[in-house]
Amino acid sequence: MIEHKLTYHFRLLGLLTTIILLFPRVLSASLTRTANDCTVSPLGDGMDDTDQVLAAIAQCGHFGTTTFQPGTYNITRKMTLTWDLQSAKVDLHGLLSFIPDIEFWLEPENTYRVVFIQSQASWFVITGSDFEIDAHNTGGVQGNGQVWWDFFTNHTREDGDGRPISFTLNNVTNGVVRNFRIESQPFWCNTVSHSKNVVYDGMHCNASNLNPEFFGQNIVPNTDGINTYVSDNVTLLNWDITCGDDCLAIKGNSTNLFVRNVTCHGGNGIAFGSLGQYFNLSDIVENVHMEDLKMVRIDENIQPNMHNAIYFKSWTGSVNGEPPTGGGGGTGRVHNVTAKNVVFDQLDGAPLHLYQTNGGHSGDAPSTLMFSNLTFIDWAGTTLSNTVVDLECSPAVGCDNITFDNFTFTSNSSSAPRFICQNVENLSGLNETCD
Ligand SMILES: *[C@@H]1O[C@H](CO)[C@@H](O)[C@H](O)[C@H]1NC(C)=O
Ligand SMILES: *[C@@H]1O[C@H](CO)[C@@H](O)[C@H](O)[C@H]1NC(C)=O
Ligand SMILES: *[C@@H]1O[C@H](CO)[C@@H](O)[C@H](O)[C@H]1NC(C)=O
Ligand SMILES: *[C@@H]1O[C@H](CO)[C@@H](O)[C@H](O)[C@H]1NC(C)=O
Ligand SMILES: *[C@@H]1O[C@H](CO)[C@@H](O)[C@H](O)[C@H]1NC(C)=O
Ligand SMILES: *[C@@H]1O[C@H](CO)[C@@H](O)[C@H](O)[C@H]1NC(C)=O
Ligand SMILES: *[C@@H]1O[C@H](CO)[C@@H](O)[C@H](O)[C@H]1NC(C)=O
Ligand SMILES: *[C@@H]1O[C@H](CO)[C@@H](O)[C@H](O)[C@H]1NC(C)=O
Ligand SMILES: *[C@@H]1O[C@H](CO)[C@@H](O)[C@H](O)[C@H]1NC(C)=O
Ligand SMILES: *[C@@H]1O[C@H](CO)[C@@H](O)[C@H](O)[C@H]1NC(C)=O
Ligand SMILES: *[C@@H]1O[C@H](CO)[C@@H](O)[C@H](O)[C@H]1NC(C)=O
Ligand SMILES: *[C@@H]1O[C@H](CO)[C@@H](O)[C@H](O)[C@H]1NC(C)=O
Repeated sequence: MIEHKLTYHFRLLGLLTTIILLFPRVLSASLTRTANDCTVSPLGDGMDDTDQVLAAIAQCGHFGTTTFQPGTYNITRKMTLTWDLQSAKVDLHGLLSFIPDIEFWLEPENTYRVVFIQSQASWFVITGSDFEIDAHNTGGVQGNGQVWWDFFTNHTREDGDGRPISFTLNNVTNGVVRNFRIESQPFWCNTVSHSKNVVYDGMHCNASNLNPEFFGQNIVPNTDGINTYVSDNVTLLNWDITCGDDCLAIKGNSTNLFVRNVTCHGGNGIAFGSLGQYFNLSDIVENVHMEDLKMVRIDENIQPNMHNAIYFKSWTGSVNGEPPTGGGGGTGRVHNVTAKNVVFDQLDGAPLHLYQTNGGHSGDAPSTLMFSNLTFIDWAGTTLSNTVVDLECSPAVGCDNITFDNFTFTSNSSSAPRFICQNVENLSGLNETCD
């Protein structure tokens, strides 16, 4: 995929960075003719690494290899260019640490707004094609989330308020991200949008509150592992997510998604949605295969929630305000989804939940977004609640063809297990009656 002729070896120390920044034409004139290789080391305590990080990608991000040596890179401001990678390799052994200056990052001009859905902001955006980023299980992003989570315990959170997504792939074709870590994401950990043929193999995200003042509370909402949006042929392998929200959130026009070996520590579980938020857009989610999923409850001081294993949600058929915070009335469908080999641990909600009233009010028109051809195979685990399956499909369109096979559970609740299936056609494989 990537061809290099390693004719240059730059060690980008402070002085050289300055030279590159002062004489960009000289260097780009020589580098465009040859493949190239950049190596960067952290400048050290109290220094700002933003310039040298950008200079390296500007020099070696096309037809080159950029190596970031281990350590912490101090990112103090908006990276003034996205990382546009063309036929490139990045070996990221260190962490890009985004300074914990909340007021600064919340200013709209200091982040990117490339993720359309809910007008979200991004810190670190990759675009381009035919690249691989290997972070060797040591590199990635340090989000310094604790100060954000503390701050937002007494400030209002809203979608689109400028809290930054840590790592965004947007407008990517043929990209690979390997063994990447995101420590303490303040908000969504990852987003992939308007992209195709993307493989993430090895991803660690961890939003764990360590402030005892807030033990036992979920002060890390919206720290989703990933949101996928308008992307085709994305593969997620070997993910390990600790969060207080959706471990994965599959949003509109995610098609041909393959997921294997995901562990979710705490949070809401894996979401399909929310869908149908934009009345003028149709959300189509199809051909999704997920296997080897594990939901693990953790110390309740750190994260009290471990809610569902998988849940599906759409807005109602009525428009209630405008996105990012309001919305509804969107059309679409979710079909051909398989979730196989799912194990879960002390869920406080139903292992499987589907509802179509997100953001709704009583008296709203029912959603016209339809769920069909959903298959759930080899599920086992424990629940604290007695509701095991809760399918509340829209009366306007219903759900069609929902298949269970070897779907087992142990309920720790003293009440009899409940199975709810509203407006479902062609349900099969549950021993219990579902009403
Ligand atoms: C990051 O850079 C800023 C600006 O130069 C500096 O004030 C700050 O001390 C640096 N932070 C670290 C952790 O080195
Ligand atoms: C908000 O919470 C922070 C962190 O707990 C605290 O330091 C601060 O005093 C609080 N501010 C207000 C106005 O309550
Ligand atoms: C997406 O990337 C392609 C090729 O890299 C570029 O031509 C196009 O303008 C980009 N699209 C957007 C919306 O940025
Ligand atoms: C899907 O993406 C993978 C990995 O990038 C690629 O090998 C495969 O050819 C793609 N499939 C299609 C149908 O484009
Ligand atoms: C997440 O971070 C917390 C706090 O540092 C740590 O105790 C926990 O082991 C980490 N979880 C994983 C899965 O790495
Ligand atoms: C599953 O992913 C985890 C990382 O999240 C990794 O440590 C483990 O080896 C993977 N298991 C398999 C069977 O690949
Ligand atoms: C999803 O794809 C459909 C069909 O191509 C399109 O009409 C719709 O606008 C897309 N939705 C989004 C959210 O991009
Ligand atoms: C359903 O999705 C799977 C991928 O998850 C795909 O292989 C299969 O062809 C799809 N079925 C149909 C009928 O499109
Ligand atoms: C039900 O959905 C599954 C895929 O999830 C598909 O293989 C099967 O053919 C569908 N059955 C009917 C009757 O449509
Ligand atoms: C379900 O899958 C079957 C078999 O692939 C297909 O014929 C049917 O159209 C699908 N039904 C819906 C409602 O998507
Ligand atoms: C049923 O699913 C559970 C959980 O994935 C698995 O351990 C077990 O082997 C499956 N049983 C059969 C008969 O496939
Ligand atoms: C469902 O029924 C099958 C076939 O009778 C049986 O093997 C399986 O153990 C039952 N599962 C549950 C959860 O009762």
